[in-house]
Amino acid sequence: MTWWRDAVVYQIYPRSFRDSDCDGVGDLEGIRSELDYLVWLGVDTLWLSPIYPSPMKDFGYDVANYVDVERLFGSLEQFDGLIRDAHARGLRVLLDWVPNHTSSEHPWFSESRSSRSNPRRDWYVWRDAREAGSPPNNWVRAWSEGSAWTWDGATGQYYLHCFLDSQPDLNWANVDVRQTMHDTLRFWLDRGVDGFRMDVVHLLGKDLDADDPDDLKAMSHVPLNDVPVTHEYLREIRAVLEEYDNERVSVGEVYLIDPNRVAAYYGRGDELHLSFNFASLYTPWNAEAWRDLIATTEAAMNPVGAWPTWVMSNHDNVRVATRLGADDRRVRAAMTLLLTLRGTPFLYAGEELGLRDATVPPDRVVDPGGRDGCRSPLPWDVDALHGWPATPWLPFVDNASQFSVEAQRDDPDSMLHFTKTLLDLRHRDDTLRHGDIDGLVASDGVLRFIRHHAGRRVMVVVNFSDTDSAVAVAVEGRLLLSSAGGARAGSLLPAEAQVIEL
Ligand code: NOJ
Ligand code: MG
Repeated sequence: MTWWRDAVVYQIYPRSFRDSDCDGVGDLEGIRSELDYLVWLGVDTLWLSPIYPSPMKDFGYDVANYVDVERLFGSLEQFDGLIRDAHARGLRVLLDWVPNHTSSEHPWFSESRSSRSNPRRDWYVWRDAREAGSPPNNWVRAWSEGSAWTWDGATGQYYLHCFLDSQPDLNWANVDVRQTMHDTLRFWLDRGVDGFRMDVVHLLGKDLDADDPDDLKAMSHVPLNDVPVTHEYLREIRAVLEEYDNERVSVGEVYLIDPNRVAAYYGRGDELHLSFNFASLYTPWNAEAWRDLIATTEAAMNPVGAWPTWVMSNHDNVRVATRLGADDRRVRAAMTLLLTLRGTPFLYAGEELGLRDATVPPDRVVDPGGRDGCRSPLPWDVDALHGWPATPWLPFVDNASQFSVEAQRDDPDSMLHFTKTLLDLRHRDDTLRHGDIDGLVASDGVLRFIRHHAGRRVMVVVNFSDTDSAVAVAVEGRLLLSSAGGARAGSLLPAEAQVIEL
């Protein structure tokens, strides 16, 4: 069994995790100082959102140098120390790799825009205006209704940016770009990283002639950029990873919400190892909707040997606890689902605490995509600054003390202990980690499925309804875990999830 199928990945947004040097921004030494907490919690793989030098227009997803560490976060030496300490504890580390675009402050772009004859001109996507001076196609950039093309007066052409105008898209059709980007992977692989989360990889190949029929909707061209050549680029990337031992892994951010389209990005075991399946973020809290999502995902992935992933929260979306109306019972049920479905789960830092989004007052809004709420700093302690040595860059969630690690660590009934119990259960249980799934049904607001492995069967039941009284669960078995605490085999409380060995 390959390690990444068994892994539980914990996403760290470095700016918001832990600050060691009193500048209000989390950093590598901060992460390093909490490795024992993560081991205690029971996760085994860390994914760090970008730590590269960046002007931070998109908080690190605008990379100005792929082969160094942003000073705010620390140094290469500190990074090496973090990898060493993580590996010594059995933790693996994935970096975020942002291949689709650089920062406009990357020296490659400065060269590219300096003249039409610059050797790096073709490293980015430059096009002439259409007649009447309009942009080459009608694509709209992310988070706005503005064009994905910006006019460069000095050289008289437009450049493409699927995101901010300060995030020009690299031209992956250029072989030098591909080889140079491959070398950036090798740089970190040589330093011992265990793999990469790959930002918007489905955008690497582009069909610039495909005008968007759904005009003026932010990023609506994204589904158009599901083009065959991207799969070639992914096979080349896979080959780079396979130059190394110990199965270095790729997790692609394929922002196509249909699991059938996502499955294609696994190739024939020669493209991505794993891909996000973001449909979960948009699936309502409803037994039938989840049954359909799980069934669609399994039908898309299982026949082609693609191993699914599951995610409830990340740094781009409203946190699951907020989406579920801050109802602790549902939040625990959702965590049970995340950690018992077939596939590799991704846990976003703070999810183990049941953290909600922070309310960010207008004068503290910093993100151009309006995502500050889910990026609020982790509350470690109950005191005023919650373990941060200086006021952090974003406000804390309301009632941060109550959500803090310190408060929850001492409370065996807390969300933190519940998450740890689930992680421990999953860790001990081969059936939950790699068993097949069947018996998927939804009725009367209750979802059930069975995981089975080597003759052992474990049933998961989730009551999505939180208004009715208890419902009977007509199964004989041993209750392994209940999200509602006190064990009552045979019936489910509102919004309760149970794991039952049959
Ligand atoms: C997806 C990342 O998750 C998001 O945070 C970022 O803004 C865009 N890609 C652009 O890199
Ligand atoms: Mg700091």
